[in-house]
Amino acid sequence: MNDKKTGKYERILVYLEQLFQNTDDITARMSTAAAVLYHKMSTFYWCGFYRFVQGKLIVGPYQGTVACQVLEKDKGVCWASVNSSKTIIVPDVNKFPGHIACDPKSKSEIVVPCFDPNGQLYAVLDVDSDKTKAFDKTDGLYLEAIVKLLCVN
Ligand code: SME
Repeated sequence: MNDKKTGKYERILVYLEQLFQNTDDITARMSTAAAVLYHKMSTFYWCGFYRFVQGKLIVGPYQGTVACQVLEKDKGVCWASVNSSKTIIVPDVNKFPGHIACDPKSKSEIVVPCFDPNGQLYAVLDVDSDKTKAFDKTDGLYLEAIVKLLCVN
């Protein structure tokens, strides 16, 4: 475990819990989470959500360079997360078959599925880094904890 990273995530969790007291509106919460993560985690080059709407993955609140608006079905890392309902860590995006490069500067990526209280997947949280091997299990565990807060009242 990387203690510095763990400490940062712990503080972010407390901060987001406080901020989410203001509203349970999901768009407000996704926007807030993207902004907090992007500005507090220096390794995050792009951070945001793709919403799962009528069988499509459509971009939601994000921070960073301009992203693809709709992701080609069943291609890339976000769709792999949707189709497996699992967090996916990609140490080198160039080695991930079908990876969708919205920005060629992205070198590694983590995607975390978001489920509503009924267990239905409604979005994924996608984070990119401009360095390879930026994400590990610690990121997976904390980002999963963060997305769980989105739907808690
Ligand atoms: N790389 C993603 C597409 C979204 S961008 O990273 C913002 C993918 O392969 O699904």
